[in-house]
Amino acid sequence: MARRKNRVISALDIEITGVADKGKGVGRDEEGRVIFVERVVPGDVVDVRIVKKKKGFFNGFPTNFKKLSEDRIEPLCEHFEVCGGCQYQSLSYETQLKHKSIAVSDALKRIAKVEFEELLPIVPCEEITYYRNKLEFAFSNKRWLTQEEVDAGEISNEEDVLGFHRARAFDKIVDINHCWLQPDPSNDLRIGIKEIAKEQGLPFFDIKKNDGFMRHILIRNTTLGEVMLIVSFFRNDQKKIKAFFDVVLEKFPQLTSIFYCINSKQNDFLLDLEMVNYHGKAFIEEQLGHVRFKIGPKSFFQTNSKQAKILYDKVVEFAELKGTENVYDLYTGIGSIALYVAKNCKQVVGIEEVADAIKDAKENAAMNQTENCVFYAGDVRKILTDEFAEKHGKPDLVITDPPRAGMHNKVVDMFLKLEAPKIVYVSCNPATQARDINLLSEKYDLVKVQPVDMFPHTYHIESVALLKLKKGKE
Ligand SMILES: C[S@@+](CC[C@H](N)C(=O)[O-])C[C@H]1O[C@@H](n2cnc3c(N)ncnc32)[C@H](O)[C@@H]1O
Repeated sequence: MARRKNRVISALDIEITGVADKGKGVGRDEEGRVIFVERVVPGDVVDVRIVKKKKGFFNGFPTNFKKLSEDRIEPLCEHFEVCGGCQYQSLSYETQLKHKSIAVSDALKRIAKVEFEELLPIVPCEEITYYRNKLEFAFSNKRWLTQEEVDAGEISNEEDVLGFHRARAFDKIVDINHCWLQPDPSNDLRIGIKEIAKEQGLPFFDIKKNDGFMRHILIRNTTLGEVMLIVSFFRNDQKKIKAFFDVVLEKFPQLTSIFYCINSKQNDFLLDLEMVNYHGKAFIEEQLGHVRFKIGPKSFFQTNSKQAKILYDKVVEFAELKGTENVYDLYTGIGSIALYVAKNCKQVVGIEEVADAIKDAKENAAMNQTENCVFYAGDVRKILTDEFAEKHGKPDLVITDPPRAGMHNKVVDMFLKLEAPKIVYVSCNPATQARDINLLSEKYDLVKVQPVDMFPHTYHIESVALLKLKKGKE
């Protein structure tokens, strides 16, 4: 490793051999130390500027590409690497899938440390563009400048933009011209809304000063062609809000639903704000297989609807239900998995932290005439107790689909106490899933794992694991 005069530490000729957390490339220096490198892909050989030394490893950025990986392809998007959203876009889809599969397999080997029968071949997406049903864009009066623009000099970043937050640059937004992730009318809507706000002289948000008027938009859509627009304004100026929406509706009469909220807080979190239904329906509808869902402005819903159906079909396949079972669906969101499996079992008990989501779950159950589901709002850690199990009966199957952080230790302990014959563990984070599988291995065998790709061009991967109570513990 060479040390330059200005104390910048560089590592030279680092061959990237794998992918680590958040899509970073991994290589080793000549002393065998691990280096995590941003914006590279396996097969690249790069010089690296080290930005952080940690015990046993380094983090850095490439300064010079000595060799480009043979797996590289021309990225689709003009904003690639600037917006930071689709880290894998320079890899062919086949190669993306290979690395996602390796990520699941590595986590199981390194963290879960259990033997198991089968890692099934990853399920790819049929559609690798325009697959998202939800995207959020931020307004800013400061544009993120590319390195080329900075190098060219004399360019001001004082510009009204609407796009994505640049990682580690909280006050600057990458202006998005075209995003390949969400279908029509997402791009037209975003561009149209930016124009309307500019024409009406509505101040774009100044993130540093925490002032302005236009703050965020969130666009949700469904495979049934319904579209919801949610706008967050900084101030409750009814005259301006009405004038703005009058033109939005004139230009986009196809909008199924419009909501707005007033966010005068210092943070962007929208779930704690009142959503006002300005126009159209208070929800949009989605159909996954035999189940219809109403999706409200705050509802959690899997962001790739077509792949969500495939994911839920895997859950049903792994569950092997006969119709007599008592099923718990933990972290149920708007009851999506619960309602999907309900026709295959005796009853489903769903638990979810967000009270509004449970309201949606109950409404969705009624809409689908599903009468064998009960839902509870609250933290799984607090709700899933001995008394709860006594009231609802011990589960024959637990389906769990926690957030990225995985399950709390106390929830895992409760699983070990409940001793359900089967667990189907759905996860969006192979590392925390593997950690929890390791803890569960005290009483459970891991049988098989099915990676499902739901987010082409990103490092994200979903995986479904089937665990069975060890022989002698039943
Ligand atoms: C990955 S989502 C899964 C949702 C649902 N299973 C689906 O497929 O749409 C995780 C859900 O867990 C909820 N959640 C997060 N922490 C929780 C907790 N401690 N207790 C209960 N629910 C929680 C979130 O609000 C979110 O709806």
